[in-house]
Amino acid sequence: MALKTFRHLHALSLRFHLDRQTGGLARAIDRGTLGIQSVLRLAVFNVVPTIFEILMVTAILWDVFDWRFASLTFVAVALYLGFTLAFTDLRVKIRRRMNDSDNEARGKSVDSLLNYETVKYFGNEAHEARRFDGALAAYEKAAVRSQVSLNMLNLGQAVIIAVGLAGIMLLAARGVAAGQMSVGKFVVVNTYMMQLYQPLNFLGFVYREIKQGLVDMENMFGLLKVPPEVADAPGAPALRASGGAVRFEGVQFGYRPDHPILKGLDLAIPAGRTLAVVGPTGAGKSTLSRLLFRFYDPTAGRILIDGQDIRSVTQESLRAAIGVVPQDTVLFNDTIRYNIAYGRPDASQEAIEHAARLAQVHDFVMRLPDGYDTMVGERGLKLSGGEKQRVAIARTILKNPPILILDEATSALDTRTEREIGAALAAAARHRTTLVIAHRLSTVVDADEIVVLVDGQVAERGTHAALLAARGTYARMWALQAVDAETSPVAEPAEAAG
Ligand SMILES: Nc1ncnc2c1ncn2[C@@H]1O[C@H](COP(=O)(O)OP(=O)(O)OP(=O)(O)O)[C@@H](O)[C@H]1O
Ligand SMILES: [Mg+2]
Repeated sequence: MALKTFRHLHALSLRFHLDRQTGGLARAIDRGTLGIQSVLRLAVFNVVPTIFEILMVTAILWDVFDWRFASLTFVAVALYLGFTLAFTDLRVKIRRRMNDSDNEARGKSVDSLLNYETVKYFGNEAHEARRFDGALAAYEKAAVRSQVSLNMLNLGQAVIIAVGLAGIMLLAARGVAAGQMSVGKFVVVNTYMMQLYQPLNFLGFVYREIKQGLVDMENMFGLLKVPPEVADAPGAPALRASGGAVRFEGVQFGYRPDHPILKGLDLAIPAGRTLAVVGPTGAGKSTLSRLLFRFYDPTAGRILIDGQDIRSVTQESLRAAIGVVPQDTVLFNDTIRYNIAYGRPDASQEAIEHAARLAQVHDFVMRLPDGYDTMVGERGLKLSGGEKQRVAIARTILKNPPILILDEATSALDTRTEREIGAALAAAARHRTTLVIAHRLSTVVDADEIVVLVDGQVAERGTHAALLAARGTYARMWALQAVDAETSPVAEPAEAAG
C-alpha cells in the first residue's frame, strides 16, 4: 500500500504537490501503513477467535446452568459491545483531529528544516520554534482529549463488566444459599465468567485499535482517491518523435481561472531549430516549458509535437522526448555520479564522464577528493549554484532527448563559463529542437527565432538582427543590457557593441 501510494503521488499533478506539505504527506503514508498493519493483525488473528470464545462460553453456561445465567451474560455482553461501539465512534472525531494536527506539525517542521538557511538569514529560530510549538499544542490538546476519552471508555466498560459479573454471582450465590447449587458450581460459574470477560475486554481493545487504524488509513486512502489532473487518454499511443517539431496553437492558460497567464499563444519551432523566448519576469516563459512538459494542460488551444497533440500521447513517452534544464536546479542528496546518471540510470561511467565534460563539470569533479562519489548534500546545497547548474546540464545531455528546454540554464554561471558551456549547449542543441528561455539576451543572439513574450502574448518575433532593426521592445532591452554590460566589471566589449 505504501508503494502504491508512493506511485500514485508521483502520478499526481504538479498543482497537487505545490499545494501540499511534504512532511504531512510522508506522515499520512507512515500512519496509513501502520494502520493497515494493526487492522490486519487484530482483525484476522484476534477478533474471529475471540467471538468464537464468547459464543462457546455462553453456550456452556446455558447448557450447564440455565437460561437465566445465559441471558444475563448475553445482555451484559450486548451492553458492553453496544457501549464500546458507540463510544468508539465518538472518539473517531478526536482521532481525526489528532491526525490532522500531527500532519500539520510535521509539515511545519519539515518545511522549516528545509529552509534552514533562510531561517538563519533572518534569525527566526525562535519564530520557527513558536510556529512548531503552536502546531504541537494543537496535537497535544487532541492527544489529551483522546486519552481522557479512552479512560472514560475503559471506565464504562469496567462498570458494565462489574455489574454483569455481580449479577451472575448474585444469581449463583442465591442458588447456593437455596441449596440448588453446589459451591463447586459457584466456582465454575465464576471461572467461566472470568473466561468470558477477559476476551470481551480484549475485544473492546481490539475494536478501538481497529477503528483507530481505519481512521489512520483514511488520509492515505484519501490520497489514493485524488485523481491526477493530467492523465493519459485511454489507450493513448506513445509519442513518435522523429524530428521533434513543436507547435503551440492558440494556447491559453492560467494557473487560476481568474488570472490568465498565456492569452492565445502561437509558436512554432521547426525540427532541429532553436527558438528563444525572452521577456520580463512573470511573463509566462517558464509556464511555456511546464505546458510543453505537460505539468498542466492548456485551457484552450493545443500543443503539437511532430503533428501529434501532446494530450493524445502517453506522458511517459512525451517526457522521455524532452530534456529540461530548469530555472532552479535541485539535486538529489546522493553522489554527483548518481545525479548525472539520473538522466539515464543505466549509463556507463564513460558516458557520464563524457556528458560531464560537455557540461564543463568534469574537471571540477576530478578536483574533489571523492570525485564522482562526492555527496552533494540536501537538495545539492553543497555545490555552488553554477556547479549545480552544470550537473543539471550534464544529466540532460546524458538523457539525449530530441527536444531540449533550457530555462535560464546558464543564469548562475559567470560570463566565461557561460561562454564555454554555451558552446557545449549549442553543440547539444544543433540537431535538436530547442526552446531557450533567457534573461541575458547575449545568450540568444544565435537563435533561429526570438520571441519577445510580454504579458502572455507575443509582442515581437524575428531574428536578433531583425528585432534590433525594428527598434521595439527587444531593441530597448538590448540597449539596456548593453549599458549594464559596459558599466559592469565583466563587461564584454563585443557584446556591448551589439
Ligand atoms: N503554480 C503556480 N500557481 C499560481 N501562479 C503561478 C504558478 N506558477 C507561476 N505562477 C505565476 O504565473 C506567472 C508566470 O510565471 P512564469 O514562471 O512562467 O514566469 P517567467 O516568465 O518564467 O518569469 P521569470 O523570468 O521570473 O522566470 C507569474 O506571475 C507567476 O506568479
Ligand atoms: Mg521562469
